[in-house]
Amino acid sequence: MLDYDAFQPYSRLVEITVLGVLFMVPENNVLLRCFQYIAADIPYGPWCWNGDCESDRISYRLAEDPQVHAGLSCQVLVSERMQILEISPDLTRFLAPILAREGATIAAPSRS
Ligand code: FES
Repeated sequence: MLDYDAFQPYSRLVEITVLGVLFMVPENNVLLRCFQYIAADIPYGPWCWNGDCESDRISYRLAEDPQVHAGLSCQVLVSERMQILEISPDLTRFLAPILAREGATIAAPSRS
């Protein structure tokens, strides 16, 4: 169940794509929190939420910026029209059912 008290205050949703699938997520929140908004079944662990475990690695591209960035979804603030290009095996495990339902091709997560 989604704990809305865990979110930073937001007044609107912003558009992002995750592996090519469009989602609307709350502004002013880090991507890991946005992933919980998309998939309420993502548990609060195994995430450390402070940059130590690196279980939430992603690569992403910002709107109007062709450069691909690497980061940790607990540390990267969402922005309008952000594209999430790759997600870690742990994130894949939780997001794959939703992404597959929306037509994304998902590689089987490996244990890391
Ligand atoms: S949740 Fe551990 S590094 Fe982001």
